[in-house]
Amino acid sequence: MRQLWRGAAIATMDGTSPWGWMADGALLAEDGRIVWVGPADAVPADARNDEVIDLHGGVLLPGLVDAHTHLVYGGDRAAEFERRLQGISYEQIAREGGGIRATVSATRSATDEDLLHGALRRARALRAEGVTTLEIKSGYGLTEADEARCLRVARAVGAATGQTVRTTALPAHALPPEYAGRADDYIDAVCTWLPRWQAEGLVDAVDAFCERIAFSPAQVERVFEVARALGLPVKLHAEQLSDSGGAALAARFGALSADHLEWLSDEGIAAMAAAGTVAVLLPGAFHFLRETKLPPIERLRAAGVPIAVATDHNPGSSPTLSPLLMIHLACTLLRLTPEEAVAGMTREGARALGLADRGTLQPGQRADLAHFDIDHPRTLAYAFGQRPTCRTWVAGRETA
Ligand code: NIG
Ligand code: FE
Repeated sequence: MRQLWRGAAIATMDGTSPWGWMADGALLAEDGRIVWVGPADAVPADARNDEVIDLHGGVLLPGLVDAHTHLVYGGDRAAEFERRLQGISYEQIAREGGGIRATVSATRSATDEDLLHGALRRARALRAEGVTTLEIKSGYGLTEADEARCLRVARAVGAATGQTVRTTALPAHALPPEYAGRADDYIDAVCTWLPRWQAEGLVDAVDAFCERIAFSPAQVERVFEVARALGLPVKLHAEQLSDSGGAALAARFGALSADHLEWLSDEGIAAMAAAGTVAVLLPGAFHFLRETKLPPIERLRAAGVPIAVATDHNPGSSPTLSPLLMIHLACTLLRLTPEEAVAGMTREGARALGLADRGTLQPGQRADLAHFDIDHPRTLAYAFGQRPTCRTWVAGRETA
């Protein structure tokens, strides 16, 4: 099966020239893989195409990669948002047993169908803005059975929407109430769950929340040791509310990414640079928690740490379903350039998931494509809230 896309500008995002820009481009794929990309007037003449997709303008980009989401949960936290605006902090709410734990109880009491229905709606909303690959974490079940249920739902999302879903086990997200005062016992239990989930094929990576309201570096390390023994890559919610040294710990385990990073230290940056750990920035949580401390963008750039951008969709700190708004906020709030922000949700997002076969438009890559009705990709960062018309293809197949 050979397909030709033409009639649009192309931004390959391959990092070798600004945007990988071609004002009038064409792209050929064979059996779902890109075999040629170039200017429209240079399409190989011998090409016999089974399908020609004339895009009638707009820009063709790599399908967006959302490398950090918590899409599977019950309930919402709109009332908590109101409380925060009455002056009670996110941390204080968490300490009182609300926050993540409120979503845990709503998730435990939701049926599988409820969880799938909610997660599907959210995944489709992401796709409507170009997302063809997304990561989904557990972390709101916090029992062996409820976490596994959430991971199964995450797998079912991918099967239903055609998007690639990478699942991440995040049982070390918060201490469940039944383990109050016994965090180390909870970590012991988590360490016994991971091998069983892996045996069931539920886990692609392991994450934890390293923070004073969550788990200590020593506790996270125990979870990471198990992940390493199982051959599973790790990533970490690190330095979101304080500097706990999480990023350096993650880097020591060769983590795919360390995420949030507002309080990241120079030692953390150096360790990430040496390990090739991607910095995943989450402007939605930064905005929604009215954070004022910026992640150290200049120093990350100077150290050559790859920077990704993700939605962090979750009910407590980032209830957004708009990856394009995150691209915008990455520019206005965090001061990324538009090209860095778009690369953060394509090439670097793929890198943060350890996926080498997508995120740019180059021969050999999967034909995961997003077409937007805009004149230039910088418009994705500029025209916030405008939601351009978008079509997506996964491995050459248009998503419905
Ligand atoms: O990525 N930081 C920890 N986890 C989520 C928030 C979870 C919640 O508040 O429900 C995050 O921001
Ligand atoms: Fe998160």
